[in-house]
Amino acid sequence: MYKRFELASPISEFLGVATVAGILLIGGSMVLDKSSDISASEFIAFIIIFSQVLNPAKAISNAFNTIQRGLASADRTFEYMDKTIIVEEEDGTQKIDKLASKISFNNVSFAYETDEVLDKINFDIKKGEKIALIGPSGSGKSTIIDLLSKFYKVKKGEIKIDGKNINTYDTYSLRTMMGVVTQESIVFHDTIKNNITFGNKNINMEKIINAAKIANAYEFINKLENKFDTIIGERGLKLSGGQRQRVALARALINHPSVLLLDEPLGALDLKLREKMQIELKDLQRKIGITFIYVTHDQQEALSMSDRIAVFNNGQIEQIGTTKEIYETPRTLFVADFVGSSNVIHGKLSEQIFDKNASFTIRPERIRILPLSEETPSNQEICISGKVTDIQYQGANFKYMVLLDGQHEIVVQQQNLRPNTKHLFQPKIGQEVRLVWNRLDSNEVIL
Ligand SMILES: Nc1ncnc2c1ncn2[C@@H]1O[C@H](COP(=O)(O)OP(=O)(O)OP(=O)(O)O)[C@@H](O)[C@H]1O
Ligand SMILES: [Mg+2]
Repeated sequence: MYKRFELASPISEFLGVATVAGILLIGGSMVLDKSSDISASEFIAFIIIFSQVLNPAKAISNAFNTIQRGLASADRTFEYMDKTIIVEEEDGTQKIDKLASKISFNNVSFAYETDEVLDKINFDIKKGEKIALIGPSGSGKSTIIDLLSKFYKVKKGEIKIDGKNINTYDTYSLRTMMGVVTQESIVFHDTIKNNITFGNKNINMEKIINAAKIANAYEFINKLENKFDTIIGERGLKLSGGQRQRVALARALINHPSVLLLDEPLGALDLKLREKMQIELKDLQRKIGITFIYVTHDQQEALSMSDRIAVFNNGQIEQIGTTKEIYETPRTLFVADFVGSSNVIHGKLSEQIFDKNASFTIRPERIRILPLSEETPSNQEICISGKVTDIQYQGANFKYMVLLDGQHEIVVQQQNLRPNTKHLFQPKIGQEVRLVWNRLDSNEVIL
């Protein structure tokens, strides 16, 4: 929609020029071959008057364009304002200024309309912990954040903060205790200072600078001509994705929150900047030691940013555990597939390998690829032969596709070692090879 209005200006320019050219061509030839009563001077006067009308006509089209932009921004702002008043009617009175022990979700189910989007969620977040909530789009991650910041009221089950129901807390004090950064942070058409303080005049400059420093925003703000008084947002200075997120982070940190809710804070950034900001966020966590609740689509980000991961699927928690547990021992096929890549073997592979009719996963980097001539491995190890069907060079690694028993295709990932490394084996496509891995590394999963 927005893009269509962006097109309006170039299109009206083009049409204006095309019309003048058309009139010149037709009118000019009529005047020159005297097929009309119009004299040359009359025609020139007409062209001059016509060209005067063109600019106001284009201005109307541009004004329409600007109004549409304004409406789009107003929509976003009103959506946000609407959200903030949803639970105000019957607010709690209990004040809270920091998280003392933990947040618990006890059997929380939630529906925005009729369909439940969270189904009996149970988990705890301890003070000072870094927890990542991951899962596919629509699995309920942002809903958890919305319930925690009381944008919506829990009706089934309960969320407890330090042992007390979240509804007993005063919403303002609860939100001051928790900073929130969302995927596409809203930047208002106002000064950087007001964007950070939300217009709160009671916050002094020292606090603002401090929050900007922690959020790594200070450096770029300080380079601007008007520093914290620079106007940003819609008609002001356009910030880059990273700068915008840093301002949003400073806004979230301004009240020294005890809990930071980050809902895909780096989702809109390119890979390099995302990696840079991941390091900054981890650094921040170490420095201020607050509780981090980190929502992300990206499993790599979840693994590197958190102590524990909760994997959401369809409104339920598939598995929750330390990052290592989730990666090494995924309990379900979904988790094995969602976090890292995994080989999945369904059913009985062969009597001496998998004696049960079940599903197993094995990570590509846990498999060694060896020549057929290699001596038989120990009892602890699984050994199976297959044929290489594809090789992908990935810079740091080689990825081999190996077909076992004409049915299971297994992915093996091997580090790209120096060519003259001892015992280095680099098979060719079509070659028969032997795959070996430790029995403990194949992990039984529930479908
Ligand atoms: N305001 C709303 N009104 C109605 N339904 C909603 C609303 N917000 C979210 N939903 C629905 O609730 C479900 C969970 O949405 P949620 O935003 O929590 O997912 P998510 O895991 O954060 O997804 P994403 O990764 O895309 O951000 C989805 O089916 C979504 O369509
Ligand atoms: Mg979301």
